Amino acid sequence: MTTSTAPRTARHCRLCKPSQEPNDYTLFLRQWVRSPARMGAIAPSSRHLAEAVCAPVPERGEPVVVELGAGTGPFTAEIQHRLAGRGRHLAVEIDPLLAQRLRHRHTGAEVIQRDAVHLRHLLDERGIERADVVVSGLPWALFPPATQHQLLDATAAVLAPAGAFTAFTYLHAVPLTPARRFRELLADRFEEVVPGRTIWRNTPPAFVLHARRPRP
Ligand SMILES: C[S@@+](CC[C@H](N)C(=O)[O-])C[C@H]1O[C@@H](n2cnc3c(N)ncnc32)[C@H](O)[C@@H]1O
Repeated sequence: MTTSTAPRTARHCRLCKPSQEPNDYTLFLRQWVRSPARMGAIAPSSRHLAEAVCAPVPERGEPVVVELGAGTGPFTAEIQHRLAGRGRHLAVEIDPLLAQRLRHRHTGAEVIQRDAVHLRHLLDERGIERADVVVSGLPWALFPPATQHQLLDATAAVLAPAGAFTAFTYLHAVPLTPARRFRELLADRFEEVVPGRTIWRNTPPAFVLHARRPRP
């Protein structure tokens, strides 16, 4: 009889399946455990929320669409579907592992692994003056005031005068101070801010804020 003296590492553990990539939910949860304040949720957004958030992506022309906090890519997939090869799609994601997955999966998007606060610089580097649509997946209600200010200033600064900005808020966060502050900051920076309907088919339920006409 032969007995193996090899240590029982993950390589030998049938349950761990190290050769397999974690699915989006597992990867998202892992990154949330590492950095809960940056991830802001324990699961990726649903297709239903993605459709509502990405509604301003135009059906014609060659728009520049910028996505902030792309995560595992539910909004990225919806934007790519709507663009169908037109225009440009910049997907900004700060987390290296998530950015790597996005890059492999969505070859039509230009995935940028950077902090979205550098938006102006990221567009300049690519010779882009203005964005027609900015779609946000960022967890605004978890950001401290200074970060909210910086990210919103960066967003308003790159949007075309007729551009659109969408962000989402989780329903349970609405009464909390950071979410209320975010709404106020949006109203300061945009002439029009319209809340969408509640998307119940998302964990947790959320609604979209549609902002237009950035104030100079
Ligand atoms: C709530 S998750 C949303 C992910 C995806 N859009 C979705 O809906 O499932 C927020 C994402 O924003 C990213 N993020 C947080 N702060 C960021 C920043 N300053 N710049 C770029 N990405 C950021 C996080 O890494 C995370 O992937």
